[in-house]
Amino acid sequence: MGNSEQKGPRGVNEANVVLVTILAASVELVSLKMRRVSKLSVAPMMDWTDPHFRHFMRLVSKRTLLYTEMHVVDALQHMDIGKVRRSLGSRERNMLHTALQVGGSEPDIAGSALRRVWEDGYHFQEVNINCGCPSQKVSGAGLFGAVLMDDPERVSALARSIHAATPSSGQTDDVHITVKCRIGVARPSEFEACNADDSTTRHTSSAHERDGTAAMLQYFRGRGCAAFKQQRETERFEKLCHFVRTVSETSPVNHFVVHAREAVR
Ligand SMILES: Cc1cc2nc3c(=O)[nH]c(=O)nc-3n(C[C@H](O)[C@H](O)[C@H](O)COP(=O)(O)O)c2cc1C
Repeated sequence: MGNSEQKGPRGVNEANVVLVTILAASVELVSLKMRRVSKLSVAPMMDWTDPHFRHFMRLVSKRTLLYTEMHVVDALQHMDIGKVRRSLGSRERNMLHTALQVGGSEPDIAGSALRRVWEDGYHFQEVNINCGCPSQKVSGAGLFGAVLMDDPERVSALARSIHAATPSSGQTDDVHITVKCRIGVARPSEFEACNADDSTTRHTSSAHERDGTAAMLQYFRGRGCAAFKQQRETERFEKLCHFVRTVSETSPVNHFVVHAREAVR
């Protein structure tokens, strides 16, 4: 068989294809290494991803990105340092491939809390700002978590303050400041209206009428149902784009982890 017959339809030699594939894979690996990006991560989970769990996970995998539980910056700032250390875990184990997740809304408090943690010798690879927690105690009270998706300027200020407070340790590169958010935030009445069928609509309508959302339900029950859902999804998408654009253009954040559900608060 002549050499030309071994070539593919576009004249590409198979050996070249293999070489290019190997080169591309090597470039990918080198760039992942340089960016210290883990392909796999374990999500932040309150009461689960504590120091013991993370220690165990580290025995299983050295490179998986492990998120801590969410730590409220006000507590990190004021709590007894012994308690802070117990809740964060060993300093040595918290360098590479570990992300500290924080919750808070005051840039100054976030900055001084993170400065305190850094001065105590913790140099996490990443600090992740929680903009997705729907808890009534947190987001419902308008403090932080999912409610921050309505205030991208504040998230940006938080990120800048955290960035300024967490200088490179000399052993690692710049600390990544990232954001975890939702695809959107809904009021309970909106969420129920969009997900209601006839029976749930009947069941919930009196509460909604008391809440002054009768008009929306009325509209939803009528022929505008599909249009209502469509319009809402478009608005939600535009809001998410606005949030990501504003935060990424005005702060060091260039990585968003999006929990693909709406937060209902
Ligand atoms: C028990 C538990 C605790 C969680 N705690 C947090 C948290 O502290 N911070 C956070 O950003 N997300 C938290 N999450 C959400 C997860 O990080 C993750 O985004 C979510 O579970 C993935 O979506 P799924 O549940 O639809 O698979 C928690 C989830 C669970 C189940």
